[in-house]
Amino acid sequence: MQLQQHLSLKPFHTFGMEVYARYFAGFHSIEELEALLSMDIASKRLILGGGSNLLFTHDYDGFVLKNELQGIEVVKEDAEFVYLRAGAGENWHKVVMHCVNNNWGGLENLSLIPGNVGASPMQNIGAYGVEIKDVMEQLEAYHIQDRKVVTFTNRDCAFGYRESVFKQGLKNQFVILNVTYKLRKDPVFHTSYGAINQELERMGVDSLSIRAISDAVIRIRSSKLPNPAEIGNAGSFFKNPQVSAAQFQELKLQFPSIAGYPLENGAMKIAAGWLIEHCGPSEGVSWKGYRKGDAGCHALQALVLVNYGHAQGMEIFRLSEAIVQSVKEKFGIELEREVNIV
Ligand code: FAD
Ligand code: EPU
Repeated sequence: MQLQQHLSLKPFHTFGMEVYARYFAGFHSIEELEALLSMDIASKRLILGGGSNLLFTHDYDGFVLKNELQGIEVVKEDAEFVYLRAGAGENWHKVVMHCVNNNWGGLENLSLIPGNVGASPMQNIGAYGVEIKDVMEQLEAYHIQDRKVVTFTNRDCAFGYRESVFKQGLKNQFVILNVTYKLRKDPVFHTSYGAINQELERMGVDSLSIRAISDAVIRIRSSKLPNPAEIGNAGSFFKNPQVSAAQFQELKLQFPSIAGYPLENGAMKIAAGWLIEHCGPSEGVSWKGYRKGDAGCHALQALVLVNYGHAQGMEIFRLSEAIVQSVKEKFGIELEREVNIV
């Protein structure tokens, strides 16, 4: 837990900007975390996981504490379920692969999402029809002010679409230490997300398995999402907006190809990627594939903003502002950022 000063954060986040932390240290145990939090410099702090959902718009004039808590272990097992606890600093995809290799069901649709275990409940990560809320049993988190470890059940986390209590009422109060997932020995397969079935067909799979779904998801993701090791990005930059069924019908009359999906509560979720693709910086030009300097909107997925090399965080942020404005002007919908702006 060596304290470092003026450290480049470039290796620690996926957008690829050269930004510096005033102070930086990693912690491998609760004792190390407590020691770091007791330092005066910790009054302005950022808990860092894999840095795959952050946009740094400037140097960080505070203390970055990198969660390095390791460990993957089965803590309970019964006839139906395996309860697997993983340290917050474990790589997410490694944990998913551990489950796939053991044939434990639940996380396979969430294959290849970048980042670490600790952030998975922060924003209730989701992909291809599954969210963490469907699989999480409980988590342990350290309350910074009271200096104690608190257990949160699934219900306590108040999960919503890319939301949890840790982004709302309890924001910046806890450090997530570990998460326990409830995995099925006899898996239930989730293939309702259209692209999965198409991919399974392309792969020639006729008997479903946890591994086949994981492989299909990996193939779909690799075909359209930019690899942060090659092009800086933080995944979807915005959330998919929700509108009432009536508002969606009005939009559909005006824009017949608009992409939307019904939700359980009767509202409609609109594909933000579609909205962004169907407007742009000027008449007849789409944001999709747009590039100004090294800041751009990905050519295969308009919801992903990218850094082609040397874009500054503020350039990406300004691009996001221009996109929000043009979507609002054309469709009357205000996009909400999904990425954490620092
Ligand atoms: P970080 O970026 O390090 O942190 C994110 C936030 O959580 C920050 O506010 C941080 O302070 C806080 N935080 C992190 N760890 C802790 C902790 N232990 N305790 C308290 N606070 C903490 N997300 C999806 O949901 N679905 C996807 O399909 C998806 N696809 C992506 C594809 C690409 C190519 C990329 C780059 C990103 C994608 N994401 C996706 C977003 C991202 O992978 C997830 O949000 C991931 O969970 C972030 O994990 P992280 O460890 O990198 O978090
Ligand atoms: N679409 C377009 N143009 C685009 C992109 C998308 O028209 O450029 C439309 C298409 O109709 C497409 C639909 O949007 O069928 C859905 O696209 P996709 O399957 O790629 O999913 P998404 O809604 O854009 C969401 C998540 C992703 C997650 C995928 C798969 C959000 C904000 N994003 O994207 O999560 O991987 O579904 O489940 O909910 C992330 O959070 O970082 C992320 C990548």
